[in-house]
Amino acid sequence: MEQVLGKFSQEDFLRHYWQKKPLLIRQAIPDFVSPLSPEELAGLACEEDVPARLVIESAGERPWMLRHGPFSEEDFTSLPEAGYSLLVTDCEKLIPDLMSLVERFRFVPDWRIDDLMISYAPAGGSVGAHIDEYDVFLLQAQGTRRWMIEYPPKNTAFVPDIDIRLLEQFDPTEEWVLEPGDMLYLPPGVPHHGVAIGDCMTFSIGFRAPMLNELASGVTDRLITRMDATARYTDPDLKTSTNPGMLATQTRTKLRELLRDVLNQDDVVLDQLIAETLSERPIDHAGYYPDNDPLTATELRDLLGNDSLDTLMRTPAARLILLDGGSSPAVLAYDGQSLPLDEHSLPLAQILTRKVFYDSAELLAATEQPAAADLLALLYVEGILQWHPHLLEQ
Ligand code: SIN
Ligand code: CO
Repeated sequence: MEQVLGKFSQEDFLRHYWQKKPLLIRQAIPDFVSPLSPEELAGLACEEDVPARLVIESAGERPWMLRHGPFSEEDFTSLPEAGYSLLVTDCEKLIPDLMSLVERFRFVPDWRIDDLMISYAPAGGSVGAHIDEYDVFLLQAQGTRRWMIEYPPKNTAFVPDIDIRLLEQFDPTEEWVLEPGDMLYLPPGVPHHGVAIGDCMTFSIGFRAPMLNELASGVTDRLITRMDATARYTDPDLKTSTNPGMLATQTRTKLRELLRDVLNQDDVVLDQLIAETLSERPIDHAGYYPDNDPLTATELRDLLGNDSLDTLMRTPAARLILLDGGSSPAVLAYDGQSLPLDEHSLPLAQILTRKVFYDSAELLAATEQPAAADLLALLYVEGILQWHPHLLEQ
């Protein structure tokens, strides 16, 4: 995993900047060359099921028009000369090789990483001044872009009734011109505006943080499915009351206690349900998973043993989460569910979660025991793993 923070150590960055304040890092990736050209990005935006958007600034009566892909060649030829941006999200899920770039940001845990968005804009193009709800690293990939930020944030109101989230007012406090390889980190909520100086590509590595209501809903849904579905309220101690329409005090106490018992789980159970919830596969990610053949553990190991074939990588969309903590049993969560790990499958789960691109020899060594080989085959069949050419260097 290569460094991406220039002269900043990961510890310093996390302590002083992460979720706290913006940071400009000159030559975060020295001599960075975009692995994708604007034409390739446009090609991607023409494919079915690719989350692509065009933001056109001066579209006549509808300023700041937003259009969703897939686009056609004519869509691009009919664009104005300037004043538009093409944005494609989930690029690392569409082009798995891009995970080698995303890997550089794994000083933040996988479950917090959302996606790599790539944008292209001709000179003058931008998506307007706005605020994002998430942390983002804006890596300049090609050409130059002027970034302006308002920090500390002052203006938060958006222009009503238009296609995009555009700040009504933006008073920049700082501005920089970013060259390829330069990178700007922004915590959530900082107003920013990036305007292309010439033809320009920007890579945004965006993060996710679960909404607390979603986390609570995922955990309680799971708790409910684990409950005894036949358990029911009973009241052999029922007393007479003056008002049958009232929930009596002693009944309330009893109901509260019953409910608290349901929610009062020990840490091991809660951790597992949290990990399962965080590993859920969003419905709109279905197309990002490979359709792998139902191979047996032996067949999969045979393929891995053949050096002339591809090796495996983690499917970029897959949310694989390891709980490997001290005294509690180790668990691997994926796709909203989890598997217990034993002493044979735990070392494999550690490799699978620590790395993104795997080495066949290492996978073979870690799957000599049937429990581990079965785990590998199961994750393969579920599409959590996919084939990838051998890396030249590890
Ligand atoms: C862009 O790449 O044009 C916009 C990225 C952002 O502001 O989040
Ligand atoms: Co933004």
